[in-house]
Amino acid sequence: MAKLLIRGGTPLKGTVEISGAKNSALPIIVAACLAEGESILENIPHDIDVYTISMILRDLGAEIWLDRENRLHVVPDGLEGYQASYDLVRRMRASFYVTGLLLARLGKAEVPLPGGCALGSRPVDYHLKGFQALGARINIEHGFVKAETDQLVGSKIYINRSSVGTTINLMLAASRAKGTTILENAAKEPEVVDLAIYLNSMGARIRGAGTDVIRIDGVDSLRGTEYGIISDRIEAGTFIMACGITGGELVLANVVPEHLRSTILKCEEAGLEIEEGISTIQVRSKGRPLAVDLETAPYPGFPTDLQQPFAAMMSIADGTSIIRETIFDRFRYVDELRRMGADIRVDRDTAIIRGVAELTGAQVEVTDLRAGAALVLAALIAKGKTEISGVELVDRGYERLDAKLRQLGADIERIPDRQEDAFEECLTSSLLEIR
Ligand code: EPU
Repeated sequence: MAKLLIRGGTPLKGTVEISGAKNSALPIIVAACLAEGESILENIPHDIDVYTISMILRDLGAEIWLDRENRLHVVPDGLEGYQASYDLVRRMRASFYVTGLLLARLGKAEVPLPGGCALGSRPVDYHLKGFQALGARINIEHGFVKAETDQLVGSKIYINRSSVGTTINLMLAASRAKGTTILENAAKEPEVVDLAIYLNSMGARIRGAGTDVIRIDGVDSLRGTEYGIISDRIEAGTFIMACGITGGELVLANVVPEHLRSTILKCEEAGLEIEEGISTIQVRSKGRPLAVDLETAPYPGFPTDLQQPFAAMMSIADGTSIIRETIFDRFRYVDELRRMGADIRVDRDTAIIRGVAELTGAQVEVTDLRAGAALVLAALIAKGKTEISGVELVDRGYERLDAKLRQLGADIERIPDRQEDAFEECLTSSLLEIR
C-alpha cells in the first residue's frame, strides 16, 4: 500500500485550484455514451474513479482519450458490448451507472452487483425497481444483474429515499425511453443538475433537476457535444477544513460557492472567516476551531462526504461537538483518529467529540475515501510524524491531494507502492494516448 508521511504543525497558506467534481464526471462520462458522435469534456478530475469508469466504457467498445489540453474525448459509436467487466466494476459502486446506459442504448445489460463496501451495506434496490418501472426485465444471476427490454417506456416513479445514484441511473435510462418519466422524491444534488444540463445540451428533454420532481421526455437520439463540468464541492470543503484545522489562510479558486452553502455556514459557526467571490472562496482561521453540532442530510443539507473531515476539525475544537450521520455507516475512521489522541465516542449514528488541545502523530490506515481525507487533515496538525497507509483510497476521489497540500506549505511525503502504482500508471498512460 502507498503511504503518506506527514509532519504536522504548518498552517496552510496560498491558493489552491479546485478540480472538477468526481461525482459529476462519472455520470457525465457515462452519459456521453448515450449519444452518437463525439463529446469533449472539460474540467475532468484526474482521479482513479474517473480512469476506472473510462476503462469500463472502453472495454464495452467506446473510444475515450485525453488530449494535450487535458480534455476527455468520448466517442461511443462502437459501444456494442453489454457485459461489464467484474474486475473493473467491483472497484467502484458508481460503475452501476452503465446499467442505465446499456438499457437505453442496447436494451440489454449484464453488470456485476456492486455489493457492500466500506460504508456499510449499499443496496441498488431503488435502481432496479426504477428500471422495472421503465419496462426492463431484471434477473440476478451469479452476482450479475441481467436486465433486458425491447423498449424502455416512460413511467411515474417514486424513489423511496432521496438517492443520488438512483436519480442519475434513471435519468440516463429515461432520457431515451418512449414517452415521459416523472421521478418523484428525486435527489437535488448539484451533480444531478450538472448531468441534466449536459444531457439537455445533447438534445435530451429534462426539466426540474434540482427540485424533487424531475420530468424526462424521452427522445430518439442524442448527439455528442462539448461540456465543462462543475467543480468539486467536496474537495473544496476538504480544503476549507484543512485551513481550519491548521490555522491557515487559503484562497480556493475554480469553485461554485453556492454549492457549499451549508458547509460554509457550519465552518463559519466553527469560527472560520469566509469570503465568497464569483468563483473563489477566501478562508482565514481565527485560531482554534469552536465546537459545532451537525447532522448530515441530502443536498442542500450538510454532505455526508464532508462529515469525516469536519469531525477531524472538531477533534481539536474548543468544546464538545455532536455529529449525527444519517446517510451511511461512516464512523470507521474514528478508531484511527483515536490513535492520534482524539477523544471521540460513537453511539450508533452519532459521534460525540470532545475537542483535545493537541493530536499526536501515529501510524494509521485509511478505511475509505473521505475517512482518508479526515486522517490527512488530522495529521496536518498532529505533533510529530503521522504515517498513513492505504492512500490509494484517497486517490480514488481527490486529484493529487498530497501535491496540492505540499504546494500550500504542508510537510507531506508520498511513499509509493509498486503494485498499486503500476495499476494506476497503466490506467493513466492508456488514457493519455494522444491522438
Ligand atoms: N439506498 C438504498 N437503495 C438504493 C440506493 C440507495 O437503500 O438502491 C440508500 C443508501 O444506502 C443510502 C441512501 O439511500 O443510505 C442514499 O444513497 P445514494 O444513492 O444517494 O448514494 P450513492 O448514489 O450511492 C452518492 C455519491 C456518494 C455520496 C452519496 C450521498 C457518487 C458516485 N457517490 O452515492 O459519494 O456520499 O451519493 O450524497 O455520486 C464519495 O464521493 O465519497 C461518495 C461516497
